[in-house]
Amino acid sequence: MVRLPIYMDHHATTPVDPRVVEAMLPYFTEVYGNAASKDHLFGVEANNAVEQARKQIATLINAKPEEIIFTSGATESDNIALFGAAEKYAGKGDHIITCVTEHKAVLDAAKRLEQMGKRVTYLRVDQYGRIDLDELRDAITLQTVLISVMAANNEIGTLAPVTEIGKIAREHSVIFHTDATQAVGHIPIDVQQMQIDCLSMSAHKLYGPKGIGALYVRKSNPRVRLAPVLYGGGHERGLRSGTPNVPGIVGFGEAAAIAKREMDKLAVQYRNWTEQLFSALQERIEGVARNGHPTARLPHNLNIYLPGIESRAFIVDLQDLAISTGSACTTASVEPSHVIAALGFGEQRAHCSLRFGLGRSNDAEQVAYAVEVVKQKVFLLRKFIMS
Ligand SMILES: Cc1ncc(COP(=O)(O)O)c(C=O)c1O
Repeated sequence: MVRLPIYMDHHATTPVDPRVVEAMLPYFTEVYGNAASKDHLFGVEANNAVEQARKQIATLINAKPEEIIFTSGATESDNIALFGAAEKYAGKGDHIITCVTEHKAVLDAAKRLEQMGKRVTYLRVDQYGRIDLDELRDAITLQTVLISVMAANNEIGTLAPVTEIGKIAREHSVIFHTDATQAVGHIPIDVQQMQIDCLSMSAHKLYGPKGIGALYVRKSNPRVRLAPVLYGGGHERGLRSGTPNVPGIVGFGEAAAIAKREMDKLAVQYRNWTEQLFSALQERIEGVARNGHPTARLPHNLNIYLPGIESRAFIVDLQDLAISTGSACTTASVEPSHVIAALGFGEQRAHCSLRFGLGRSNDAEQVAYAVEVVKQKVFLLRKFIMS
C-alpha cells in the first residue's frame, strides 16, 4: 500500500531526520549552557558541541571550522554576504553582479542596495537557467566588489557552473558568494576546488531543524572581510552577534555529517526517480516539457511545464500529493515564477509549471502514484476546459 499523503516538496523544507532529533535532545534540557559563557562547565560543554558541529559542517564543504559563521538561516546568510561585502568594500567600488533567477533573499537584498546607491548588474539566463560566462566577464569592472550566483536553483534545480564562476571571480579579484542552500548536503560542494569565497546554507534543507543556517566566509587566500548586519556581543567572529542556538547548531552538524555519508547514494536513487517521473508524465500527458537543465541539475528536482494547466489551482486540489507551483507566493499576491519567466518561453509557462522535490521520505511506489494522480487530474481538467 502506498503511504498517503505524499510529500514531494523537499525544496521548500525537509523533515528533521530522527537521528538529528536524537542528537539535539540533550541540548535542550541537559546541556543547556550558553556557549558564549565559558567560565563554567555548562558553557564549556555547550561550546564544545557548537565547535563539533562547526567541524561537521566545514567538512561537508571542505572549509575550515573557523570559516563557518552560524546564522538563523540562508536568508540571513545571503543578507550578511551582500550587505556585508557592499559596506566593507565600499572603498574599492559600488558594483555587485548577481543573476535574475536568484532567490528573493539575494534579489531583494540587491534591490535594497540599489536604493542605497549601489549599482547592481542582473545577469540573464538561457532557456535552461544558466548564465553566460562571457556576459559575466564583460560585466566585471574595477568597481565590482561581489559576484553572487546561486549554486543550484530552488525552483528548476539547474546547477550553475560554479567552478568556472569561481575562477573568473578570482582572476578579477572579486569576491564570489554563492547561495548554495539547495545544493549543500545534496551534491558535492568544495569551496577550495570551486574557489568560493562566501557560501550560504540552511539546515532545514538537509534534514536539519528550521531557524539555523550558516555563512561560510573564506579566511585565507584571500581573506574575506564582511561588515556585520547585527551588532551586539560580538559572537561568531564579530559577524553575527547573538546567543548561539546550541540545539539547532548541534542538529545542523549532525544533519551535515549524515548528508556527507549518504548523499552520493541517495543522489543516484533520486536521479532515477526523477527521470522515471519525467518520462512517465511525458508519455501519458501531451505537451509536458522540462523546466531547467536536463543534466546539470539537482538529482531530486523535477520541474515541468503543463500547457494550459494553471498550476496554482491544480495543486490546491491535490489532497494526497504535496508538490509546489512554479509561483513565488508573497503574503499579498501570487506572482508567476520569476525563475521560469526568465527562461524566455513567455509568461504562460510561468503560470503552468509544477515542481517536484523528492527526498528521504519517498519511495518508488509513491513516485508511481504521483504519476497516476497528476495524469488523472490533467485529463479531467483538460476535458473540462474542452467541454
Ligand atoms: C536558494 C535559497 N536561498 C535562500 C533560502 C532561504 O532559506 P531560509 O529559509 O533558511 O531563510 C531558500 C529557501 O527557500 C532557498 O531555497
